[in-house]
Amino acid sequence: MKRLLALTAAAFITLPLTPAAASPVHGARPGAPGAGDPYFPEQGNGGYDAAHYDLTLDYDPATGRLQGLARITARATQALSRFNLDLVDTLTVRSVTVDGRAAAHAQSGSELVVTPARALPRGRAFTTAIRYDGEPVHVVDPDGSMDGWIKTSDGVYNANEPQGAKSWFPGNHHMTDKATHRFTVTVPSTRVAVANGDLVRRTSRAGRTTYVWNSREPMANYLATVTIGAFSLTDTRIGRYRVTTAVDPQQSAPGFAERHPPVLDYFSGLFGPYPYSSTGGIVDHAPEVGYALETQTRPVYPGAPGESLLAHELAHQWFGNSVTPTSWRDIWLNEGFATYAEWLWSDKLGTRTVQESFEEAYARPADDDFWQTPTADPGGPQNLFHAPVYDRGAMTLHALRGTVGDRTFFAILRAWAREHRYGNADTAAFVSLAERVAGRRLGALFDAWLHQPGKPSL
Ligand code: TRP
Ligand code: ZN
Repeated sequence: MKRLLALTAAAFITLPLTPAAASPVHGARPGAPGAGDPYFPEQGNGGYDAAHYDLTLDYDPATGRLQGLARITARATQALSRFNLDLVDTLTVRSVTVDGRAAAHAQSGSELVVTPARALPRGRAFTTAIRYDGEPVHVVDPDGSMDGWIKTSDGVYNANEPQGAKSWFPGNHHMTDKATHRFTVTVPSTRVAVANGDLVRRTSRAGRTTYVWNSREPMANYLATVTIGAFSLTDTRIGRYRVTTAVDPQQSAPGFAERHPPVLDYFSGLFGPYPYSSTGGIVDHAPEVGYALETQTRPVYPGAPGESLLAHELAHQWFGNSVTPTSWRDIWLNEGFATYAEWLWSDKLGTRTVQESFEEAYARPADDDFWQTPTADPGGPQNLFHAPVYDRGAMTLHALRGTVGDRTFFAILRAWAREHRYGNADTAAFVSLAERVAGRRLGALFDAWLHQPGKPSL
């Protein structure tokens, strides 16, 4: 964080600018270069709140070149002399305007520093337009996995948890700054570009096709996707759902669209109404990626998913996407809940009871390393997707269920989804909500399962 501040400051003073002190906006100062997340301190930015991203992208899979125009509407949360966006400096920013006026900009590492011609008063709504281009490359995460703009044989597998968004568009990329999104993506007509939300338009001209996707519910940027390939695209209404799917011709996924409504209906009964205007999924062929992601409204899979993986990613639409943690350390609120939903769906299918799933996970011997990681703090960004986050997280919920009973347990899950719909909430908020709904103290249970190392006793 210190190093970053020094770098951005140096980049800034090389520019011929009116000093902020001369600005008519009293007390204007730079927005923070990070949101202060304990695992990814430079991710996100301070000083403004993004409301909408209008992204116009043109991509050619043959050359790997991306041309982008990002129009970001935001509101200043302090008097701002300048502010940052997250974007890798291997992409080149060509121009920046703020409310239509040219703004100075500097790139350094993953920070794009924008200095508007005039400082922005606190509370001001403003629009920043960034023109940029280059050849996006994926990010390698602390756990060694790839995320972001990951090239495939016929396009791009685009999964952005936790850090990939900065590899292809500028923004406030911490999960606490949710916004609506619109994607206008042009690709060669032999390819399909799939994003979040509703497909609103598809037009072709001179061998190129433009897809417009409107994602109208608030979304954290790590859940955005623009995945490109030689997909076969379907867009159908099934029951209460608009199901939009894309399947790679190298994959076989019979009845993929039809598999969604039964899972969503079951989860709606348990968790409350499905939070989005459309659903579906993207079945890519990306064996080198190795993981799926719950990209909002429409998860992306590296191959045809089985029932458990489908249920896992669809459950994330409630837990993770609609209700999102406030920091990466709280990732069990995503993965523990989605894993528990897998157990519920297997039980519903008659494959295995929830109790059997719990017992199998709990059977790990007490001296197994697994038990050394407390659910609510996996210990660092390299452990975000480690087994305790998933399995001990799911076991925590089952232990809660055993203590408060089925009725209260599902009332807790529904209250969590309802009260924090489209928002952010942390582990402490979950504990206090559970205690409130249950009408009793649950401190000892949660302390053993969430915060202490060691195997909790039953
Ligand atoms: N959130 C994904 C899921 O569980 C998992 C995930 C994202 C992941 N990035 C990863 C797993 C990197 C392993 C490595 O649905
Ligand atoms: Zn998950």
